[in-house]
Amino acid sequence: MSAVHLKIDGAIAHIVLDNPAKLNAFTPQMLVQLETHCATLEQSADIRGVILRAEGTRAFCAGADITAWASLSPFDFARLWVRDGHRVFDRLARLSKPTIAVIHAHAFGGGLELAASCDIRVMASCATLALPEAQLGIVPGWSGTQRLARLLPEPVLKDMALFGRRIDATRAHGLGFVAEIAEDPLSVAVAIADGVAKSSPRAVEVAKYLIHAAVGEDRSAMIEALGGGMIAASADKAEGVAAFAAKRKPEFPGT
Ligand code: COA
Repeated sequence: MSAVHLKIDGAIAHIVLDNPAKLNAFTPQMLVQLETHCATLEQSADIRGVILRAEGTRAFCAGADITAWASLSPFDFARLWVRDGHRVFDRLARLSKPTIAVIHAHAFGGGLELAASCDIRVMASCATLALPEAQLGIVPGWSGTQRLARLLPEPVLKDMALFGRRIDATRAHGLGFVAEIAEDPLSVAVAIADGVAKSSPRAVEVAKYLIHAAVGEDRSAMIEALGGGMIAASADKAEGVAAFAAKRKPEFPGT
């Protein structure tokens, strides 16, 4: 059975893909589970960092489950598969907590798009990245031509999406797509997560929002979140709300 588990280890949460027999190919059920875990994490004040990893030795994730989308009608493909996938991967990308993907083995198609939805990536030297969709007669549909276009140079992305060529860990690291190459990428990810857990969670969250506003990841919401957070701390806001509750005219202190 395909599954995405949530495991908590102190201040660090692990989202774990667990369908190694199918190379963790991503099913609609796994999308639902990932979305649920993201909602849980968003509410968990004690969690300071999130690691996304996968079971099995052969693949981090071999992409979207081909058997799940193969017979969908064009409109169901667009609506149930592409748009739902976007919604869930966007939820992961926009989590208020810092996220690290552990690419311990191949990340293809949706698996690469999933790893790209995390803040940073740690990769095993034996792992490779690929966008093989064109060999299946489709195109990347979970942000492989969009979010990935912000993370990889255009010629590299075209090399993968048009020419179907894989890139290895050394190249991915050289391009800045991967923060570190490690023989044991999970241990490295845990050490990085332990480090960020000691930083100010509020400062980390706001830094993430600022960077997302700069690069265009949910820019409108990020800008309004930053403005909203600023005004929510003001005495003017407190007075406005108090006056409304007391059914009187507000007298704003201007602070
Ligand atoms: N969707 C559904 N099932 C998948 C899958 C996917 N994306 N990728 C792998 N699997 C399944 C295989 O069908 C196989 O199932 P089976 O044992 O019941 O036959 C199992 O996972 C193992 O895969 P297999 O192909 O035997 O492993 P391999 O080591 O020989 O090859 C890959 C590994 C990654 C090269 C190969 O599985 C592959 O090309 N997968 C598809 C990758 C892809 O196109 N992803 C984009 C999808 S949109």
